[in-house]
Amino acid sequence: MAFVGNSAASRDIAYAIHPYTNLKVHETEGPLVITRGDGVFVYDDGGKQYLEGLAGLWCASLGFSEQRLAEAAYAQMKKLPYYHIFASKSHDVGIDLAEKLVKLAPVPMSKVFFANSGSEANDTVVKLVWYYNNALGRPAKKKILSRIKGYHGVTVASASLTGLPNNHRDFDLPIANILHADCPHYYRFQEAGETEEQFASRLADNLEKQILTEGPDTVAAMIAEPVMGAGGVLVPPKTYFEKIQKVLRKYDILLIADEVICGFGRTGNMFGTETFGLRPDMIVVAKALSSAYLPISGVMMSDKIYQALVVESEKIGTFGHGFTYSAHPVPAAVALETLKIYEERDILGHVRRVMGSLQDGLRRFADHPLVGEVRGVGLIGAIELVADKKTRRPFDPKLGIGSYCVKRAQEHGLIVRALGDSVAFCPPLIISEAEIELMLTRFGTALEDTHTMMRDRGLAAA
Ligand SMILES: Cc1ncc(COP(=O)(O)O)c(C=O)c1O
Repeated sequence: MAFVGNSAASRDIAYAIHPYTNLKVHETEGPLVITRGDGVFVYDDGGKQYLEGLAGLWCASLGFSEQRLAEAAYAQMKKLPYYHIFASKSHDVGIDLAEKLVKLAPVPMSKVFFANSGSEANDTVVKLVWYYNNALGRPAKKKILSRIKGYHGVTVASASLTGLPNNHRDFDLPIANILHADCPHYYRFQEAGETEEQFASRLADNLEKQILTEGPDTVAAMIAEPVMGAGGVLVPPKTYFEKIQKVLRKYDILLIADEVICGFGRTGNMFGTETFGLRPDMIVVAKALSSAYLPISGVMMSDKIYQALVVESEKIGTFGHGFTYSAHPVPAAVALETLKIYEERDILGHVRRVMGSLQDGLRRFADHPLVGEVRGVGLIGAIELVADKKTRRPFDPKLGIGSYCVKRAQEHGLIVRALGDSVAFCPPLIISEAEIELMLTRFGTALEDTHTMMRDRGLAAA
């Protein structure tokens, strides 16, 4: 057997597989081992502090040391550590959370189905869309539209919805009946002389053409993140959702809002649905629902969908879907406490007070020679680095410029994420203005390091 050292890093290399990691490179470079958190900061095993500029994975909305959530989990563990909601069983926290979510929904919703992750929730969405159309006697209406660069998870169906090549390649995905529509990123995909509104109109026209080519009677639903997160923090162009929703309504196609990142204040409203004027038939929530302290997700659905599930389950004799941990009482208790904290501390009001500092602060980098586009809304944003500012020419991906910049940021005590050559920012919602400024300062240093490296390697003008 190969020698395994005692350090956390060598045991990590010996035993753990890391998602979204080049596994070969990891064997030599090893992990960053985080051991504790405090507010918007986390600390590694050497005691070094990092400002968590991505709230972990866009999720730790209340930061990394909210004692009330720890206490809510402990109290629930002592009272009822587990129960399920199969076969008409229920429990008080699951009921409370379902009621709370339905009342919080930005458009009328009737019921909530609970799962444990965004991926499971989106897999559930796919099954519900199919079940719904079978209930309505439309067995051919099954195709689900997603968008290129959309991110909806990694399970078989949700990875198929995801519109990123690395989630399909060599996993033999996507599955049948999943279609990918245009990516609504104006900066990258605009045509010469096209305004944002014209770009949105073209995408809506293309969507209609795609539906007509497939046959409207075969297209069941479209899923969309209000702001596309993992695809690069892509804020929809003006009038986009208004125009595509018109097309969807015309062909009786459901809209599903994937609010896994945008939900609970991220975009400056409780839901991205409000920020961008969506009228979804289903809303998927996860992440900030529990501030990520424990895994829980939910699919909210309109009464129209729910009534179809009732008909079909009556016909079959049961609604044959559900997870052992659907509405698990401990994450449900943590989610309830999270929602209570959002209200009591007016987290949304706080986001609205500080989000200008993030958006203005990010735009301070717009004139930098490496910066192509600065984009964002609320407390989410990205800076896209490009080889040529004028022509918007991207870097050769092999150069790994975004990754280099993010590594330098880490060196300077800031954790952010490279999505290709876009650097994403999505700090905990509790971040203060001073901490936003610290985040921007640390990023600025990393950007200068990146520029210096490029000059040294002859990749940028001296
Ligand atoms: C918009 C969106 N949907 C779904 C998912 C998948 O969630 P999970 O990783 O919990 O399965 C993510 C994860 O980042 C996401 O950003």
